[in-house]
Amino acid sequence: MKLLNKVAVVTGGAKGIGGEIAKLFALEGAKVIVADMGELSFRLDNVELISLNVADSAACKVFFDQVIAKYGRIDVLVNNAGITRDAMTKKMTDEQWDAVINVNLKGVFNLTRYVGPKMEENGGGSIINISSVVGLFGNIGQANYAATKAGLLGLTMTWAKEFARKGVPVRCNAIAPGYIMTDILKTVPEELLQQFAKLTMLGRLGQPDEIAKAALFLASDDSSYITGQTLSVNGGMRL
Ligand SMILES: NC(=O)c1ccc[n+]([C@@H]2O[C@H](COP(=O)([O-])OP(=O)(O)OC[C@H]3O[C@@H](n4cnc5c(N)ncnc54)[C@H](O)[C@@H]3O)[C@@H](O)[C@H]2O)c1
Repeated sequence: MKLLNKVAVVTGGAKGIGGEIAKLFALEGAKVIVADMGELSFRLDNVELISLNVADSAACKVFFDQVIAKYGRIDVLVNNAGITRDAMTKKMTDEQWDAVINVNLKGVFNLTRYVGPKMEENGGGSIINISSVVGLFGNIGQANYAATKAGLLGLTMTWAKEFARKGVPVRCNAIAPGYIMTDILKTVPEELLQQFAKLTMLGRLGQPDEIAKAALFLASDDSSYITGQTLSVNGGMRL
């Protein structure tokens, strides 16, 4: 049990990558609070859903207060909630730009601004930001998404410094997944997915549980001397 008695918050944990992270953390002994706008796609005794839109700053404060009132601490925060609104830059609307920035980037700030200092106060913690291979290499038709996922890498390095500056072991790392088989890929044509698979050294796309295992490593004491880093989990992909 790598997370016995830890309190973990997973945003966007109702399904997909976040769902697998929530389930694995729970099986490893954590009390998991999923912050999501949707319904849980699974049931586990120690996984609780609290409805939240991470883009809503005031709602994030209410959520944080609620979790602290009930559990007193947050040991692990996984900033996983994310959306795509793809379009070529010349056709991208303000709505598409703003929606992705507000969820994928501001949504991460909205919660971590409270959780990071609380971890500092409680003597430690692990923050994991779910970035993307697209944040490292860019991608045609995803200017908004790439900007947010690259932005998360700046936040990761900043928070690794900021929340540990008093000598308290609050760690902050990012995971940059490659193409992982979840609903977020529903809008990507099958032919393109096959091309992406060929761009990996392993010759295939990934599964959500393969990201969950990396998240468990970064959440647990197994990674006690790792902070400010980005872990690529992409089958050896270059875009
Ligand atoms: N699947 C991939 O190929 C892939 C690759 C790289 C990075 N990622 C990132 O991984 C994360 C999870 O993606 P996924 O593939 O599991 O997607 P998904 O669409 O299967 O799940 C996303 C979850 O986030 C929730 N969510 C969306 N907007 C939200 C909001 N405003 N507030 C709270 N919850 C919200 C959804 O309800 C859903 O449960 C995202 O940040 C995504 O950008 C995914």
